[in-house]
Amino acid sequence: MRPIAFTTLAAGLGLGLGAAALPGTAAAQGTLNLYCSVQIEWCQAAATNFQRDTGIRVNMTQRGSGETLAAIRAESQNPRGDVWFGGTGDPHLAAAEDNLTQAYESPNNANLQPWALTQWNQSGKRAVGVYAGAVGFGFNTELLARKNIAAPACWADLLEPRFKGEIQVANPNSSGTAYVIIATLVQLMGEEQGFDYLKKLHANINAYARSGTGPIKAVARGETGVSLSFVHDAVVEKNAGFPVAYATPCEGTGYEIGSMSIIRGARNLAQARRFYDWALTEAAQRLGYEASGQLQTPSNKSAPLPPNAPDLGQIKLVEYDFAKYGRAAERRRLIERWDREVGSLPR
Ligand code: G6P
Repeated sequence: MRPIAFTTLAAGLGLGLGAAALPGTAAAQGTLNLYCSVQIEWCQAAATNFQRDTGIRVNMTQRGSGETLAAIRAESQNPRGDVWFGGTGDPHLAAAEDNLTQAYESPNNANLQPWALTQWNQSGKRAVGVYAGAVGFGFNTELLARKNIAAPACWADLLEPRFKGEIQVANPNSSGTAYVIIATLVQLMGEEQGFDYLKKLHANINAYARSGTGPIKAVARGETGVSLSFVHDAVVEKNAGFPVAYATPCEGTGYEIGSMSIIRGARNLAQARRFYDWALTEAAQRLGYEASGQLQTPSNKSAPLPPNAPDLGQIKLVEYDFAKYGRAAERRRLIERWDREVGSLPR
């Protein structure tokens, strides 16, 4: 069932120091317009550290993966962004196919995990893997205990009446996480049964959030019992002190290759390439955890899996067909079908 080997390094291996800090001469180094689709804390840490390391001034805009793809498409005649960092891999592949991004080969590709380079090859060298993460269920242990609801272990459990109005997931138009979940169900069950499942699940959903992390944050605050989320985001909330736990579906689950692309027509191409090379270094990838507490699996082979991060090698993963589900027309078709047949249904 497993398409790719997720090998992880024990924490402590490959210990390096932080990015080689160049003198912070912000003056003549120019500017970078960074579009960022990871959590805001990581986006800010990436912007601040890159600026400090290189003297390049960073203007950062954080948005969900679907929203960023829509912005890049809308701006394609007059691009405003230079590099797109993070977010699920499918919309990066769609952007590559639609010629919204450009090919680049970083000298740091040599240090990446094979799955990061598979993404690069599949995209015609336009998108590279920066991190990976698996989909699962996040839940508020106190809230479920108080309501006497047993935690979900399988996709099938979520359709049970005990979860009526207890589940949150994001909207696939704005969120790449939500699209990965739809594509996962279609791959696990077949398209008709997958949509049948989504329609039934709709009855138990209390809200479709805009961003992929909205639902797990609602779980942390006790506003909903269960979320469909990347499981690393559940651990982020647990580490922040909330009564949050996660499970990965017994039937198997999907995953993302969080990616990075240089936008076609980038006005600051040299700075974009500099950022791209920087973001693939061990030091920059360690920042995800060390500066902002994020818990994805890094794509740089020397960057360790953060402590208590979900280990993808231990999770039952579907053979996620990135080539198919990253295709622009397939993505559009599935999201439109979801809008028509699921999102618009009464609850
Ligand atoms: C969070 C996760 C990332 C993921 C991103 C997608 O930041 O930690 O691993 O790539 O969400 O965001 P979206 O809003 O597009 O679902």
